[in-house]
Amino acid sequence: MRLTNHLVCLHHRDKQVRLALNALSVVDDNECVEGLLVCELCNTQYPILDGVPILVRDLVRYASNRGAIYGSWLLGSKTPEMKNFLRDFASRLNPDLVSNDRYEEDGYWFAPYKWTQYDYTYDDHFLKLLKRDTKPTELYNKIIGQVPVRSEGLALDLGCSMGYTTLQLSQKYSYAIGIDLSFSFVKEARKRMSEANIRNSEFCVADSIDLPFGAMKFDLILVVNLLELVEPTRLLSSIHGLLKPHAEAVFADPYDYNREPKPKIQFDGRTFRTLLCNSGFEIFEKSKKAESFIPWILKIANRSYLFYFVDLIRVRKISKHR
Ligand SMILES: C[S@@+](CC[C@H](N)C(=O)[O-])C[C@H]1O[C@@H](n2cnc3c(N)ncnc32)[C@H](O)[C@@H]1O
Ligand SMILES: [Zn+2]
Repeated sequence: MRLTNHLVCLHHRDKQVRLALNALSVVDDNECVEGLLVCELCNTQYPILDGVPILVRDLVRYASNRGAIYGSWLLGSKTPEMKNFLRDFASRLNPDLVSNDRYEEDGYWFAPYKWTQYDYTYDDHFLKLLKRDTKPTELYNKIIGQVPVRSEGLALDLGCSMGYTTLQLSQKYSYAIGIDLSFSFVKEARKRMSEANIRNSEFCVADSIDLPFGAMKFDLILVVNLLELVEPTRLLSSIHGLLKPHAEAVFADPYDYNREPKPKIQFDGRTFRTLLCNSGFEIFEKSKKAESFIPWILKIANRSYLFYFVDLIRVRKISKHR
């Protein structure tokens, strides 16, 4: 199944209007590397660039926050039509607002996530120093280890970064979709997917609180280390709407609010569990009893690491969201 079969227009989610690939798309090895996904109803165009579908509501704002990435799209676009499409909204970019998101390729977080998810080595100084044999991917493996196999199911990984957990999910589910706001992360995730020759997974750029999917679609939604970056009540409401009745969601988070800008609402293990219960979810007995402390390590520079203890909560959708 292709990703485009699952996507709907952000402006007509309730009507579940599918998106069609325009005739001018550049297809390589049976895969669209560049083109436009067009809504049959409102004609909104969502670009696919470098193989990455970008399903955001406000593309001008998205590109403004990624000046360098936008430049690379323009330089790398393969057809005059795509160049025109990109130039058309260039005139609407506000130069005063143009910035580079910290999760993009030249931003602060690209290298740490690449190390943590794929490129760490066992002779790393810090890892060698730890008495307990702790690997950066231990958190991800523990999470996926708890997820039951559903060979017919559809899974969604929100804020998937470079796709490590999404690709693991594809081994347990019939199809796994990873979404992230970072174009560079999604591009890297797709690269890893094709290197591993995985065919039942796909990735796209999207906002986890404004997703291009119809209601009650997913059998599992994964949310790892994302809570501090989005408005939690909107996130839970979006997840609740997307899950099938009684389907499962897994949250893993260190509740780290030591960041700027500071979110208005801050949770800990206890208050987040309360929010889940008030948002139409039932917490699995094992996660209800006690918080967990699973190690997770990011390498942020040659001699500098971030070490977290992450709480893991499994829940089931039980009711309509009030
Ligand atoms: C702290 S990282 C965690 C990544 C990954 N889940 C992990 O645990 O390795 C947060 C990720 O969420 C993405 N992100 C931030 N805000 C987002 C949003 N509103 N929707 C989707 N992704 C978002 C970032 O680009 C980043 O990749
Ligand atoms: Zn539309």
